Amino acid sequence: MPYEFSTARYKEVVNFLNTLPKNISILDVGCGTGNILDFIVKETGIQDVYGIDIDEEALQIAKTRGFKVFNLSILDDLSKELDMKFDVVIMGAVLHHLVGKTRNESIKLSYRALSNATELLKYDGYLIILEPTFQPFWLLSVVFYIKRFISFFTRDRVVILNYWNNLGPPVVSYFSPEKLLQVLDNFKELNIIKIYQEKNDLTFLMKLFFLRKYQVLLIYQKS
Ligand SMILES: C[S@@+](CC[C@H](N)C(=O)[O-])C[C@H]1O[C@@H](n2cnc3c(N)ncnc32)[C@H](O)[C@@H]1O
Repeated sequence: MPYEFSTARYKEVVNFLNTLPKNISILDVGCGTGNILDFIVKETGIQDVYGIDIDEEALQIAKTRGFKVFNLSILDDLSKELDMKFDVVIMGAVLHHLVGKTRNESIKLSYRALSNATELLKYDGYLIILEPTFQPFWLLSVVFYIKRFISFFTRDRVVILNYWNNLGPPVVSYFSPEKLLQVLDNFKELNIIKIYQEKNDLTFLMKLFFLRKYQVLLIYQKS
């Protein structure tokens, strides 16, 4: 059963969506099992919702929940496949999963994904990005390369004490809040309208690496 992440992180997203008309369309990029779409529909009453993901097993669960979901990657130009534009595009905890051979390559993949997501938006539509971010950025580069190194030897998580203390796969390329804003600053058609940042508790390994974790929510409007 694919892992489902907490919907509690989406409280501010739902508060924002509740300020918009109920007949808008929403695309959830990286929708997984559809649990976030489920939460949004229940909390907002918005019905015209869609999802894309690359995890077929998770998508099957989203389908049994009754959602219109598609096996598509946000790294591809989806204008033909989806053939529609959305009022809201949500990307929750997806960017750090876009991983290349190096940190720079990974950041370039984030640019591509954000550019494709922006293309799927109507003018005046909203891009909502929710990302776990860490400081300092350079230390996350160290973690990235440790995870890449260990991933040459195993496909399993290398867990120290509990689930989240994992130095093995999956390799993830986390942003710092500053780096994420810097990347998005390059999209001149996106205007920031809301920033939320919440400090999170740390696991044992994160403390060992002197990391600080922030859940960041960014809402942009396309002009
Ligand atoms: C950490 S989960 C987040 C799930 C959910 N969005 C949330 O906020 O709880 C990341 C999701 O992004 C999906 N994903 C990874 N790369 C993707 C890509 N290139 N295109 C679309 N989805 C992708 C994964 O399969 C996974 O379901």
